[in-house]
Amino acid sequence: MCSRPLVPFQAGRYNSVAMPIMDSHALDFISYSYDQTLRYGVKLGQLLKPQDFLGLSGNLGSGKTALAIGVARGWGSLESATSPSYILVNEYSRADGAELHHMDCYRLSTAVDADHICVDERLESGAVLIVEWPEHIKSWIPKQKLWVTMSYITEDKRSIQMRADGNRFTQLLAEFRKNAFQHGSA
Ligand SMILES: Nc1ncnc2c1ncn2[C@@H]1O[C@H](COP(=O)(O)OP(=O)(O)OP(=O)(O)O)[C@@H](O)[C@H]1O
Ligand SMILES: [Mg+2]
Repeated sequence: MCSRPLVPFQAGRYNSVAMPIMDSHALDFISYSYDQTLRYGVKLGQLLKPQDFLGLSGNLGSGKTALAIGVARGWGSLESATSPSYILVNEYSRADGAELHHMDCYRLSTAVDADHICVDERLESGAVLIVEWPEHIKSWIPKQKLWVTMSYITEDKRSIQMRADGNRFTQLLAEFRKNAFQHGSA
């Protein structure tokens, strides 16, 4: 056991003993309600730029669509997002003409299916891509991405793990960490 006394926490400063070591590629936290997941999504959506890829992994009902709805709202979608479970892709626009495509790949079972959803064309067009069940389109997942894994803990509680691949997403994760946890929490 650590024999050093814990340093009392002071507002605006990290407690160097009690705080875990920060990994610039990873951020794990808990959402305590559907609304809080939406708010985390909004904070994330505000940071997204054209061609960003956001993979949302996790079991059925773990909250992927809830997060995506918040992301679309924060990004500035003119329409409220809904689940694309049955139609695979929902395409949203912003006032400046930018696009965000939200896909649910749960029903894609073969590599041929995955080819048909045109991941690369969508990214090349400049759209932001949010993909639920990204494991079903493995060969199309870009190297640079933000990968979010959501897990059910209790009826209202979900764990959210974010992993950044590439400089763009490491920076994005740093911004998200600051906006969601240091400048007032979600
Ligand atoms: N903290 C929470 N965050 C997100 N959703 C929550 C939370 N607590 C409870 N819920 C509920 O869990 C469900 C999450 O559903 P959602 O459609 O977002 O899951 P999903 O991961 O997209 O599932 P699927 O794989 O079927 O698309 C909703 O009914 C929501 O109200
Ligand atoms: Mg869903």
